[in-house]
Amino acid sequence: MSVRILGIESSCDETAAAVVADGREILSSVVASQIDVHRKYGGVVPELASREHLRQIVPVVREALLQAGMKLEEVDAIGVTQGPGLVGALLVGITYGKTLAQALGKPLVPVNHLEGHVHAVFLEAHKAGRTPKLPAVCLIVSGGHTVLYEVKTEDCSALDASALLRYRKLGQTRDDAAGEAYDKVAKLLALGYPGGPILDRLAAAADSAPAPVKFGTTKTRGNPLDFSFSGLKTAVLYHVRETSEYEEEIRNREEALARGERKLEQLLPLCSPKTLALVREFQNAVVRDLVQRTMTAAEELDVESVLVSGGVAANSQLRATFEERAKSAGMEVFFPSRALSTDNAAMIAAAAYSRFRAGILADTRLNADPSLALV
Ligand code: KG4
Ligand code: ZN
Repeated sequence: MSVRILGIESSCDETAAAVVADGREILSSVVASQIDVHRKYGGVVPELASREHLRQIVPVVREALLQAGMKLEEVDAIGVTQGPGLVGALLVGITYGKTLAQALGKPLVPVNHLEGHVHAVFLEAHKAGRTPKLPAVCLIVSGGHTVLYEVKTEDCSALDASALLRYRKLGQTRDDAAGEAYDKVAKLLALGYPGGPILDRLAAAADSAPAPVKFGTTKTRGNPLDFSFSGLKTAVLYHVRETSEYEEEIRNREEALARGERKLEQLLPLCSPKTLALVREFQNAVVRDLVQRTMTAAEELDVESVLVSGGVAANSQLRATFEERAKSAGMEVFFPSRALSTDNAAMIAAAAYSRFRAGILADTRLNADPSLALV
């Protein structure tokens, strides 16, 4: 009999529920995004996020069960994100998960959201029948996190979905997450929210016009595997402020966004070649930095595989650059599909499976931990 786990995720701005069998087969995965709620603020507003989770949690869980063709009583365990994340947002999922577990008499499995992102890679890899060899280096890069881990199993034996993974943090951002930098740069250029997907596509549309400004690699004193993106964002801000040429097109795009026109084909004609070259240069700097530090770690540790997960892992240039660099280093690189890159509950249910098998359970005292570490 397979073990079917209901995963619940509410750490940031996605309310998600999923059912995963044996940590590898996704029976359903439902995500209610709050992008429309937060769009006009250009970032996630914690108070509004909690309120939306409250509104969405019941229908989202119901829909996940419906799509899996299951009743609540048929679930073997409930996995819920304990942290890191926004405390009010986390509490909605945790309270709901605890209540369900108690009412149904089912085990409750606490899951670290970052471990979920790691498992998103394994979920995809299991499906494709090519499991990453460990030890690996894993970059988790999203709107809330930019962090690099070494990932191992207890004894580095063959990996299956029930293997408990061990983590060692190698580096992290000192300030903004990479996705946050994308969102802030898109906001200051009036390109909408979230910034990543649109900047990704605009950078690809840029011709070979010279960059109006050059961004070097950010130096982080101390740990060379730490990241920093706030200086880059500020450099874009100063450049835009000092260049009056951008003013008119920014005004035009603000008006377009106010009319609800935020698609690529609506915004692209409102971008000058200079703006496109600026976006291309910004993306080059982010991608270069993420790939460089991750591959330095991978080579120093002489790992077999490189894993890349989180919302920014959907970036096409990041994927292509990692593929290229990993190939020349003789390593394999693994990403989740785009749907599993951003926040979802299938990754939480998959991570819960190995913990469930190891007997790592929570009781009704489970509380949200906004800065839960991954160990
Ligand atoms: O993992 P996620 O859904 O939520 C967080 O945990 O933050 O990631 C969302 C972040 C946003 O900052 C968004 O701008 C970024 O991922 N993102 C991208 C792309 N798609 C989403 N960044 C760069 N390129 C993309 N294609
Ligand atoms: Zn996330």
